[in-house]
Amino acid sequence: MKEKIGSIFKEQFGSAAQWIVRSPGRVNIIGEHTDYNKGFVLPAAIDKNAWLALSLRDDDRIHLYAADLKDSYGGSLSDLKPIEPMNWPNYILGVIAQFQKRNVVIKGLNAVLLSEVPIGAGLSSSAAIECATAYAINLMNNAGIERIELVKMAQKAEHEYAGVMCGIMDQFASMMGKADHAIRLDCDSLAYDYVPLKLDGVKIVLLNTNVKHSLASSEYNTRRQECERAVALIQEKYKHVSSLRDATVAMLDECVKAKDAVAYKRGRFIVEEIARLHEACKNLQNGDINALGKNMFATHDGLSKAYEVSCPELDWLVDAVRNNPAVLGSRMMGGGFGGCTINLVKEEAVEDLIKELSPAYEAAMNLKLTSYVAEIAAGTEETGEGMGR
Ligand code: GLA
Repeated sequence: MKEKIGSIFKEQFGSAAQWIVRSPGRVNIIGEHTDYNKGFVLPAAIDKNAWLALSLRDDDRIHLYAADLKDSYGGSLSDLKPIEPMNWPNYILGVIAQFQKRNVVIKGLNAVLLSEVPIGAGLSSSAAIECATAYAINLMNNAGIERIELVKMAQKAEHEYAGVMCGIMDQFASMMGKADHAIRLDCDSLAYDYVPLKLDGVKIVLLNTNVKHSLASSEYNTRRQECERAVALIQEKYKHVSSLRDATVAMLDECVKAKDAVAYKRGRFIVEEIARLHEACKNLQNGDINALGKNMFATHDGLSKAYEVSCPELDWLVDAVRNNPAVLGSRMMGGGFGGCTINLVKEEAVEDLIKELSPAYEAAMNLKLTSYVAEIAAGTEETGEGMGR
């Protein structure tokens, strides 16, 4: 990929790139929709990356080229705003805008984007681009901003330039990933530790529904508001509760149940999901992958029935493996309404499982099934010096 993007850059801009940066997509083992509720998540970076090749310019122009899409963008640093309708340059422009907001003086740039992270698969292809951009701009302009701050800037870019009020999980995982480890992240304090993903003989298999229903981002923002409604009702009595992280089922029963049935359902799922995540971490520490898998199935059922962010295609895929002894756990992953399921599958059964599921899924849903075996990899990095420096 490094060679490929380097030569595309040369073709586009006539000289070698000065920097090449990569940033990965992510999986999330468990802890879904908990990040913006200030709870915990357990993501990990994967071996699929968004790549950026870049050079500085002497003027304040921004020239971008998305090699996969064969699409270009040209603009100026002095007039930065999201393009409409929403399109890929916004992930890059949104991050550049964050540097300007922090009064970092930055120079114009040429950049080529090339990504291996499938779009709309729930693997955070947008966070990968945002993190690659944040890392690169920081490096190129000697801005000296720490990784955690870059994570926050990448998240803000998604809020302000893509219109999705996402939590911090995706950008954190992309930037901070470590090979063979998941990240247990406290989304309130941003304290984190690395949990070894010891899955002896078990593979993380991603099954892509190949759908992304159009209500994904609007429903996402709605869930966020529904959770805030639950918190507001609890707060009338329990002043110290500022997020669902601090709530209990008893509080929800007492303050929310009778007044707002939807907020109650959502809130209850979040409180239970945070507890499930802690259990899952213990399962991993004890090497009990069976128990971890059971918790993943329980998460799916909650996301589907109580949080209502699944869809028929995701439910079909989880149901199809539920009673398969080679599959220890399965659930929808990420924001929902399409994308992938994450599955823990015994290594020797992976090939047969995919062979079996593909035609059945295609017959049932009239859609192709694609699959990836995810390896857990390191976060954002510069991939060796570019040729121009
Ligand atoms: C999307 C968001 C994340 C997180 C997940 C659900 O991936 O970008 O912040 O909320 O959905 O867990």
